[in-house]
Amino acid sequence: MMPSITVTDQSGLQRTIHPASGTSLMEALRSAGFDEILALCGGNCSCATCHVYVDQEHLGVFGAPSADEDDLLDSSDHRQPNSRLSCQLLVTEDLNGLSITIPPEG
Ligand code: FES
Repeated sequence: MMPSITVTDQSGLQRTIHPASGTSLMEALRSAGFDEILALCGGNCSCATCHVYVDQEHLGVFGAPSADEDDLLDSSDHRQPNSRLSCQLLVTEDLNGLSITIPPEG
């Protein structure tokens, strides 16, 4: 089963995607055409341009961020308690019903 994930982009538009399990959420977003997710480092947890907000309900599905991810998120002016780097999040069936929001740029 492919999870149903609703994405709100920077302009406030919502779209639901159904990515395959096993890819990173960053790759799924890029493949779906969300170009706001720049992913400049290619998923190596060193750029923070794949920043997303995860809905509270699903936050616990993902493990705690690594120290590197945590440091990178701190570099963002738009960090919130539900901030994650999407390249560090794996798409699984458990993400069905997940809502994520792409933060403002910068
Ligand atoms: S793509 Fe660079 S930190 Fe995620």
